[in-house]
Amino acid sequence: MKQAYLDADTLLSLSQRATEENAEPFDPLHVDLGRPFIHEEFTQLSHTSIYAELDDAQRLRYNQLSGMSSNELFMMFESGFTNRVIQRLIGHRMLRHDPVLRQCLEIMLEEEKAHTRMFAALNRKCMPGIYTRTTFHFTRSGLFEKAALWSLTHLPHHLLLVVWLVMIMEEFSNYISRRMIRSQETRHLGTLDPAFVELHHRHLRDEARHVQIDANLIARMTELAGPLKRRSNARILRFLMDQILMPRRAGVAVIRHLVTEHPELKTRENELIASLRRLKREPGFANALCQEGEMKLTRLFMGQFPEYHFIQTYAH
Ligand SMILES: [Fe+2]
Ligand SMILES: [Fe+2]
Repeated sequence: MKQAYLDADTLLSLSQRATEENAEPFDPLHVDLGRPFIHEEFTQLSHTSIYAELDDAQRLRYNQLSGMSSNELFMMFESGFTNRVIQRLIGHRMLRHDPVLRQCLEIMLEEEKAHTRMFAALNRKCMPGIYTRTTFHFTRSGLFEKAALWSLTHLPHHLLLVVWLVMIMEEFSNYISRRMIRSQETRHLGTLDPAFVELHHRHLRDEARHVQIDANLIARMTELAGPLKRRSNARILRFLMDQILMPRRAGVAVIRHLVTEHPELKTRENELIASLRRLKREPGFANALCQEGEMKLTRLFMGQFPEYHFIQTYAH
């Protein structure tokens, strides 16, 4: 049977080639404030009935603020979580005799640093007044970093757990990027801003390879873990996913910011926040799991072990 993902040797040569080709740093010249930044389905309020009651200017600005907030989340996850997990893996005994996979991880680490620079540069173009002072305006910096440190120090036998999280989030991010690249027409707000599309182009170029590297790691690790370990691993993974996928602080901060720019919404602020809180989970993630050909590796590996079949419950 053909393997569903590339082997480490192929991934290393692809990674090395990408390093040679990726010389040009991402430097967006212009962001069009008359255009949406992301597809509406990736903004939380668009999944609530109150969204239809906003006027066009309010919806457009809400979309743009959500786009910046999602850039922050990417940065926070990749610089706070993924990079700690990769560093731990590079020094792990499991990879002592696997220099090829280790080298893939070293390149991946550098690429994640470049991604953080890319997301930060784009946000600075969008709201220079704020993002030249801080990187995290809507999100609580250090959130994922704390989660990574906690998992790595309290659950050192559950390295598999954090690798699962990296793979799930990277496949989800690939879904978002592919959606942005395939079609640039949004439902109600017109065509996506080209700088955001370009950013996702660049991100996907590396991330499509990262999920393949994750797959190599997961294949090795799930094989080593017995059913008992997988069971407790799956329980904690489910708990952490619930935490990550609950629309909370960043979504509320986006609404509060919107109200400062659109004071006519002040009387509806609590109503907007309440609508957001009624969403139990990140709706975009459920969409990703329902799409043919998306979240492929997550579903492949999770499908192999009954302990992980819970992932399907996130599709609703
Ligand atoms: Fe990345
Ligand atoms: Fe990545």
